[in-house]
Amino acid sequence: MSRTLTIALSKGRILGETLPLLEKANIVPVEDISKSRKLIFDTNHEHIKLVILRATDVPTYVDHGVADFGVAGKDVLMEASTKNLYELLDLKIAKCRLMTAGVVDQPLPKRRLKVASKFVKTAKAYFAEQGIQADVIKLYGAMELAPIMGLADLIVDIVDTGNTLKANGLEARELIAPISTRLVVNKAAYKTKYAEIEPILAMIRRAVDDNE
Ligand code: ADP
Ligand code: PRP
Ligand code: MG
Repeated sequence: MSRTLTIALSKGRILGETLPLLEKANIVPVEDISKSRKLIFDTNHEHIKLVILRATDVPTYVDHGVADFGVAGKDVLMEASTKNLYELLDLKIAKCRLMTAGVVDQPLPKRRLKVASKFVKTAKAYFAEQGIQADVIKLYGAMELAPIMGLADLIVDIVDTGNTLKANGLEARELIAPISTRLVVNKAAYKTKYAEIEPILAMIRRAVDDNE
């Protein structure tokens, strides 16, 4: 009998690209996730379950070992304080960039910078590494508003097409990191459940290669 494996998926934007990838890897939920209010789903494999979480909660579930695998954006993983997970695979979906952005043509002030972001830890580390003094203000969304309203000189946010920046009179400045979705695994599970984990990893790896 195989031990149960739980895969924690990020809901929202990433989920729409994750499910087709899992299907290619022959991991298919038994009911339509998009039509259900349930958060935990059986799959075509008796020992594989899927749980659907807020993207920022995925690293926490895997870190605590209650989920064996997790699917999460690199941006979320960089921001998370986790010690007990390995990043196994780049799933190469939901690709975007983590960047600084400011008001078009507006030079930076000479004083200490004010930066608004939901990626506080990553933003602090980035400016410290650049030797730039910055206070980081935590926001939970609509970061683009902060420079327009004078809350901050710069934001640190996800940029894909650049349409959101453009629509708000902002411009991208510096690249902090290229972002894509990663498959992570709990470190202890990787050892103790290796026999179950390895074939699933191989199937997902093949599906990623097929996508290229
Ligand atoms: P949230 O409500 O937490 O912002 P989303 O579904 O918007 O959730 O995004 C989740 C993840 O998708 C992010 O952590 C990032 O890795 C990726 N992502 C976010 N915005 C974009 C985008 N515009 N284009 C591509 N990927 C994105
Ligand atoms: C994300 C991100 C940017 C936008 C970038 O927001 O926070 O605002 O996408 O994409 P673009 O460069 O293609 O315009 P999202 O749509 O996820 O909104 P939310 O996270 O604030 O709900
Ligand atoms: Mg979003």
